[in-house]
This record gives sequence, structure tokens and C-alpha cells, in this order.
Amino acid sequence: MIKAKPLSYALGAELTSIDMREALGEQDIQLIQETWHDQHVIVLRNQDANPEDILRFARSFGSLDNHEATPFYRMEGYPHLMEITTQPFNGRPSETRNVGRNWHSDYSYTGRPAAASVLYCVKPAPIGGDTMFCNMVRAYETLTDKMRRIVDDLYSVYDISLTKGFYERDASEVAETKRLNPPIAHPSVRVHPGSGKKALYVSERVSHFHGMTSEESRPIIDFLCSHATKHENVYRHQWRAGDLVCWDNRTTMHVALTDFDQSEVRHMLRATIIGEESGFLVG
Ligand code: OGA
Ligand code: MN
Repeated sequence: MIKAKPLSYALGAELTSIDMREALGEQDIQLIQETWHDQHVIVLRNQDANPEDILRFARSFGSLDNHEATPFYRMEGYPHLMEITTQPFNGRPSETRNVGRNWHSDYSYTGRPAAASVLYCVKPAPIGGDTMFCNMVRAYETLTDKMRRIVDDLYSVYDISLTKGFYERDASEVAETKRLNPPIAHPSVRVHPGSGKKALYVSERVSHFHGMTSEESRPIIDFLCSHATKHENVYRHQWRAGDLVCWDNRTTMHVALTDFDQSEVRHMLRATIIGEESGFLVG
């Protein structure tokens, strides 16, 4: 019997009695989904999963992205897995060593932002290297009525080049990644298709609001990001080998902390569940 234990005040639940090496039953999938809708982040500990297990688990919750928006970071032989590592992979230095260094929601710079992400820890950093998550439903609900009415009407323009450390990656890959992902506007407030909850959809990768200048937009973006990431709205995950963390990208943001020795191994595998088509290119 699967049990859910809350992990923080604002979001996150640990689920026990799941073994990723086995296929999930219908009832289990439903229970996991309900917890997911309520808590936005779910954590499984002490797993002993291989790439096939991660893919099978993730596919229980939707179709997987083959990561064409960032094609250089796929695991050899497994296009549906992204390898996030400090170590060389596919025979060259890692381009994913600095993934996720500012608050964001996955694939928000594409026309099919990720519904959810499933991140498996093969090897954690020896110390540090945690990931933080914040609850964007709560962020929306704790705005005043007036501010909610303002953000209800906004469109966030997402720009992949605002990914922290983006220009430290290989120059030709940076150019190609930018070509594949031109700036795109999404509603700044989205309704979750499964739970019907409204969530704020802004991040540190938003350059401006569509129809507004960056000078006008900047103070509002900064306010919304600091409002959303207040301590009481955050769960901080300290990784152990065999952890699986699944987050809903429509109701959370996350950030990968840099507080570890990046010459040491930190190795993760990510599957990405495709979301609904959304947004329009802003040119
Ligand atoms: C990601 C990401 C966080 C981490 O996989 O989308 O942002 O802690 N990674 O590696
Ligand atoms: Mn991410």
C-alpha cells in the first residue's frame, strides 16, 4: 500500500512502498497522480533503477519528450533521457554540468512546455548540490486580488539565453539551441489541466511581458520571482543515490544549487513528460 508523507510546509511528499523495477498498477498510478496534484513534487527513495525502469515509470504518467529542443544532452541510445552530469559523457566534456542554475520551469522556452520532469540520482555530489522547488499555486493564491487581476492578463516571454551559464556552453551548440528555441510568450497564469488549479507561470528566464518594455516588466518579474521563492514556499531536496524526484512543471519552479565541488561527480538522469501546446512566437 503506497503511503504519502509530507516533506515541507508548502509542497512535496515522499511516497513509500514503490519499487521502480516493477510496472505500476492502475490504482497506484491514480494514487500517485492525486498526490502529485496536491503536493506538486513527489519523492521516491532507495530505488535501484536502470534507464528502462526510469522510462517505464515516467511513461505511466504521459508521453515522453525526446528532447529535440536541447538535442545535445541526450543519453546515448536513450533520446528520452537527458544526462545531467559534471563528468564527460558521450566522449566529451559535459554541457549539462551547469543545468538549472536559476529558478525555472522545464522547457518553458518551447511551444510544448514540460508537464512534468522525473529526475533520478545516480550519484549525488559528495556534499551539497541540493535542488529547491517552489509552489506556484500558492505563489498565485498569496497575491492580493488586485495583483492577481494584473498577472491574469500578462504573457511571459521566455528566452532560453537567460538560462544561467548558457554562454559557458559550446558556442556552436549555443547557437543551434537558440535557433531551435526562439523567444516565446506563454500566459503568466496557467490552469492545470488535471487539478484545475491556477498557477503563476513566470521565472528567472522571462525577459519581459508581451506588449510591455523590459523596463516596465523587470520590477514585476523580480517581485513575482522573489514572492514565489520565499522560504516558506520552498522544499529543498538533499539528494541520495537512488532518489527519484518528480515535479510538476505547471505548478512549480526549481533551481539546482551550486554549493558543491563541481570537479566531483554529480550524475542524474532526467525524463520529461510532454505538456500541452502553448504560446506564440514573439520574433
Ligand atoms: C533539470 C534541472 C536540477 C538538478 O533536470 O531540469 O533543472 O538538480 N536539474 O540537476
Ligand atoms: Mn530544470
